[in-house]
Amino acid sequence: MDMKALAPRCGVEIAGVALADCNPADMAAIKAAVHEHGVAVFRNQDFAPEDHIAFAKAWGGIDLNNYFPLDPRWPEIALVSKAPEQTTNIGGAWHTDHSYDQIPAMGSILVARVLPPTGGDTLFAHMGAAYDDLSDEVKAAIGGLSAFHTADHVYKADGLYAQTDQGKVLRGQDLRTGAVHPVVIRHPVTGRRLLYVNGGFTINFVGQTREESLPLLTKLLESAVRDDNQCRVQWEPGTVAIWDNRTSWHNALNDYHGHAREMHRITLSGEPLAA
Ligand code: SIN
Repeated sequence: MDMKALAPRCGVEIAGVALADCNPADMAAIKAAVHEHGVAVFRNQDFAPEDHIAFAKAWGGIDLNNYFPLDPRWPEIALVSKAPEQTTNIGGAWHTDHSYDQIPAMGSILVARVLPPTGGDTLFAHMGAAYDDLSDEVKAAIGGLSAFHTADHVYKADGLYAQTDQGKVLRGQDLRTGAVHPVVIRHPVTGRRLLYVNGGFTINFVGQTREESLPLLTKLLESAVRDDNQCRVQWEPGTVAIWDNRTSWHNALNDYHGHAREMHRITLSGEPLAA
């Protein structure tokens, strides 16, 4: 296998491996690369839905997403879709998946199935680099903090998506979520310190109101997505990306109106997070 950085501080492209036929040594190296770099990209993969499911099971458990439509033929696979007539996409803002769960998903395996002629890239940002960049003063201020995360404002019946043309497609409007995580976590495998608040689901610091939290939260969110913390995944037929939700955030660009984009996503189970 050959590994090449996608950008100086985030992401890696891995060549010389067929994910559908991956031996244990390659699998171990891929896992390590995903944990360290936040996202790994694989090109020209012959990766049927059955391969996708089998490969995901080799990582551990699968977390079914409660909101996205599931593929009726392969219910482990969530559909991240935008039709030509829709204007809103799924995941079109900086976030990390499932941080609203007390045991958040470890990561996702996303497979490109239908792509627009141009656009539809996904940006990733590295939360270890984001933490390293903070001043000593800010690091001291957030060191003992925890934050509350929920998805209710995004998915409930009068939430953000309900007001868009994705509203009818999504499920789970009646669910209620809530979780508390340290603002700075240690990666469960690499041990690296990571910033663990995100724009999608983090509401407030514990012990502070939303209004009290916003100045510091906004500062953290803005500094985390500095250009030099990011990489960009440009999808092609046969591209597969695997990301770690602790090491990275992502943001699906919505710049292909009038064209379809469909991705197959399997979400991988994680573990509780600790400071
Ligand atoms: C997501 O899982 O948030 C969407 C990613 C993408 O569609 O590129």
